[in-house]
Amino acid sequence: MKIDEYVDIKQYSSLKVGGQFQYFAVIDKIADLIEALSFAKEKDVKIFILGGGSNIVFRDGAINALALKIEIKGFEVVSEGDNYTDIKVGAGENWDQTVSKAVSMGLSGLESLSAIPGTVGASPVQNIGAYGSEVKDTIKEVEVYEIETGEIFNISNKDCKFGYRDSIFKNEAKGKYVIMGVIYRLLKETTDGIVSRGHTPTALSYPGVMKYFDGKKIENPSLEQTREAIIDIRREKLPNPIEVPNVGSFFKNPIVLSVVADKILNEFSNAKFFELEDGLTKIPAGWLIENAGLKGKSFGSVSIYDKNALVLVNNGNATSEDIFRARDEIMRIVKEKFGIALEQEPEYLK
Ligand code: EPU
Repeated sequence: MKIDEYVDIKQYSSLKVGGQFQYFAVIDKIADLIEALSFAKEKDVKIFILGGGSNIVFRDGAINALALKIEIKGFEVVSEGDNYTDIKVGAGENWDQTVSKAVSMGLSGLESLSAIPGTVGASPVQNIGAYGSEVKDTIKEVEVYEIETGEIFNISNKDCKFGYRDSIFKNEAKGKYVIMGVIYRLLKETTDGIVSRGHTPTALSYPGVMKYFDGKKIENPSLEQTREAIIDIRREKLPNPIEVPNVGSFFKNPIVLSVVADKILNEFSNAKFFELEDGLTKIPAGWLIENAGLKGKSFGSVSIYDKNALVLVNNGNATSEDIFRARDEIMRIVKEKFGIALEQEPEYLK
């Protein structure tokens, strides 16, 4: 296995920011992982697990770490029941190709998560979600390599402690494991479509998706049609990172006490907020930023995307400092206008 030195991070960052990794290795098998971990110990540097680099902001300058680009592959059916199929997918597989494969096999559960950039190994970390679906609803187990003991085992869905864009891998288990693969339990599509079987993908009750199918006069969409719809809808709202550097949503949708949301609703009666349980309301951060008058605004080399205020784009040569300056300014203005503190959604590697 080859370990490179001082590798430019930008090529691994969908936002195209960041300095250099002091050390860098591509890992496609367990033996390489073991060798790389012992190298890091010898050099006394921390390790950093790199997936698709599509939900992370890397710091400028040299990062004193060994970055491991996980390319562990594999896609296999591991068990099957009357109405489900369990598939095990290698952490280094591309996420959207995995969704596409599942859909073409007539397996439902991932289709609403179409066209999300990144890798399979990253999917449980932040519990990726879109159009009413969250990946936690399909994950049976996550296969991990425990760095301290060298053991490989599966962590159950429950023990992953999934939440909105959250899991143990971002919290108490951060840095403890290398995710090797994910086992998904997917439901079989029947010949008369997915809806008629009583298993309705949540995307079909999501306003934007309903409108899309109404417009096309499709009543009982197939998995393929649902996937196509999501791809079309995302293309409208989210810039392709290959053309326009970005990390998707830059802020989480804040959850506040409903009394706080009601105050805003009194003033903006057309706002679309989502009432949750326990007197809480989820407010779309994109709505807050747009209604603070910031959609399409530029802060030097960083802009708020003109079709979706939740996305920050790098206009070409922004540094991570530029990104954070824009972020802080947006947070300040939103706080001043609505009294709500936004929280950054992508990870930050210091
Ligand atoms: N909105 C605005 N202005 C904007 C953007 C959104 O008013 O500039 C309003 C919309 O009109 C809508 C509401 O905000 O009423 C929600 O918008 P949308 O359905 O597009 O979803 P979102 O809350 O902006 C979330 C996820 C996305 C995911 C979409 C689709 C978060 C932080 N983001 O965005 O995830 O694709 O739902 O389900 O939860 C990502 O994490 O990188 C990501 C793209």
